[in-house]
Amino acid sequence: SKVTVVGAGNVGATCANVLAFKEVADEIVLLDIKQGVSEGKALDMMQTATLLGFDSKVIGVTNDYAKTEGSDVVVITSGIPRKPGMTREELIGVNAGIVKSVAENVLAHSPNAVIICVSNPMDTMTYLIKKATNLPKNRIIGMGGALDSSRFKCYLSQALNANPNEVEGVVIGGHGDTTMIPLTRLATYKGVPVSQFLDADTLAKVAADTMVGGATLTGLLGTSAWYAPGAAAAFVVESIIHDQKKLVPCSVYLEGEYGESDICIGVPVILGRNGWEKVVDFKLNAEEKAAFEKSAAAVHKTNSVLKE
Ligand code: NAI
Repeated sequence: SKVTVVGAGNVGATCANVLAFKEVADEIVLLDIKQGVSEGKALDMMQTATLLGFDSKVIGVTNDYAKTEGSDVVVITSGIPRKPGMTREELIGVNAGIVKSVAENVLAHSPNAVIICVSNPMDTMTYLIKKATNLPKNRIIGMGGALDSSRFKCYLSQALNANPNEVEGVVIGGHGDTTMIPLTRLATYKGVPVSQFLDADTLAKVAADTMVGGATLTGLLGTSAWYAPGAAAAFVVESIIHDQKKLVPCSVYLEGEYGESDICIGVPVILGRNGWEKVVDFKLNAEEKAAFEKSAAAVHKTNSVLKE
């Protein structure tokens, strides 16, 4: 199998590195507009093949889309990241043009690929790809919920003083500081609702920390994070390439599911070889439904900027 990662910056390069290390694909093409950067990072990664013992091949190219030909999955990470104090929504002006042209270029060479959008504001960029390409909706996936959920589980595990891998938790809604919805009621530790172990204040703090999880890292790093974002993108790719049928919250084009239409927003979906296969209904309670509606209204508002 073949995966292309567009954007060889922090997130794209980390994603390619995880894909190679885990041998998710035979061939990984890393593409960027900056002369030499993808070639250099790909070569650097290939020089870890004998150290880490992987057989995947990583190839770096400067804007040469012919080399991406026949990709099964394409991950789009090209665009600017936020700086401390910025919201993801502020990136729309620059990133919309980049994401649209990249999507058109990759599809010209890989018309059957599943596209994973990482660039921010992610829900709106995913919607833009849907509108610009008119691909079947199942082949367009926005990555945000996989990352936000891993952050949620990390903060939950710290509050529980537990192994993060014993914690389950899902974040739905928009991928924004005020729009994401950590589903605290449904989170579990060793299969038991976390409310059995943590009081309401602690749970509210975990949810609040999760929502600004990206901003916290941007403040510490001076630019946005990459290890977890890159790994989360690779996790989505792996679920697709290996047809794992995993349940992962992703931003997908809704036509009535969760009460919303004409929008890409985070909902739990099953991922398989053809992209997202179905939306899973979590039967939200009234409070969660109201939060989802509010989140969708904010995403619609950001989408409306595209039409201006
Ligand atoms: P970065 O600045 O390290 O890398 C971006 C790369 O894109 C640069 O190497 C740049 O040369 C390249 N690029 C720009 N225009 C291009 C074009 N037309 N074609 C090919 N490559 C192009 O940024 P970073 O940290 O990797 O973030 C990338 C994007 O991902 C940002 O928009 C960021 O906000 C977003 N992001 C999304 C997350 C999510 O959960 N959805 C999580 C983290 C970041």
